[in-house]
Amino acid sequence: MIYHAPVLLHACLDFIDPKPGDLIIDATIGGGGHTEEILKKGAKVLGIDRDPDAIEHIKRELEIAENLRLAKGNFSDLGQIARENGFDKVDGIIFDLGVSSHQLDEPSRGFSFRRDGPLDMRMDPSLTLRAKDIINNFPERKLDEIFKTYGQEKFSRAIAHAACISRQIKPVETTGELAEIIREVYVKRHVREKIDPATRTFQALRIVVNSELLNLEESLPQTEELLKIGGRLVIISFHSLEDGIVKRFFKQSRSFMVLTKKPIGPQDEEMRANPRSRSAKLRAAEKV
Ligand SMILES: C[S@@+](CC[C@H](N)C(=O)[O-])C[C@H]1O[C@@H](n2cnc3c(N)ncnc32)[C@H](O)[C@@H]1O
Repeated sequence: MIYHAPVLLHACLDFIDPKPGDLIIDATIGGGGHTEEILKKGAKVLGIDRDPDAIEHIKRELEIAENLRLAKGNFSDLGQIARENGFDKVDGIIFDLGVSSHQLDEPSRGFSFRRDGPLDMRMDPSLTLRAKDIINNFPERKLDEIFKTYGQEKFSRAIAHAACISRQIKPVETTGELAEIIREVYVKRHVREKIDPATRTFQALRIVVNSELLNLEESLPQTEELLKIGGRLVIISFHSLEDGIVKRFFKQSRSFMVLTKKPIGPQDEEMRANPRSRSAKLRAAEKV
């Protein structure tokens, strides 16, 4: 199975425009799809990922030439990681946010509501809080708030209540068990949706387990120092909470000229070939 199909690859390369000898940071290397193309253009890449599995995958699959450096770490420490690796003045930085297809599809990682697995959702296995710790221990009102805020889930309260009833009988241990609790809430209300009813609640839990929004907010200001004048920042986001943070940052920062008046999305062809690209939005800016 393919580890991850890179999203909006051409648009990303157009903005980054890598040239031989350029220094580029891929802050979310994942399966290495974007990095591989940048390396082909002769640029040097620092690839970062907080998931050790992604780093191991790259070591196995990509030819580790001297042009690629790898760092396991959180992009919230972007400045420090870049400096430690000699990438302190760079020509481009890419963030391709969220989870990789591998993380989603591998049941043991606990992100998938389609395949049963332990209710985990940690991108970095050294984190201590798992999704099941949240579901089984957080107060009902806190669960409601999480599902509403980070999943924009309209039945957040009912789902929180159903989870708390269920955990009194037995702890919720697997993704399949939680998905069934959520689907039941929708069935009882005779609501049918195009997407699986578990989608939004799972997104909310993933965001909290991995502090995704906080990490993004902490990392963006660090790009201002790292980029050379004329250097480019490209960010691909997958939901409105992430995109809102990026949009606000670009608006507030005095260091950037925005290159995308409106975010760029995938063409029909890409959406057909890779349905996960559907919600992707790319924003790019140039350091001035
Ligand atoms: C959508 S995938 C990237 C895919 C990659 N561009 C490709 O073409 O294969 C997102 C990756 O970012 C990583 N990631 C998410 N948040 C991170 C963070 N705060 N710091 C470092 N890596 C992170 C995830 O572990 C995942 O591997």
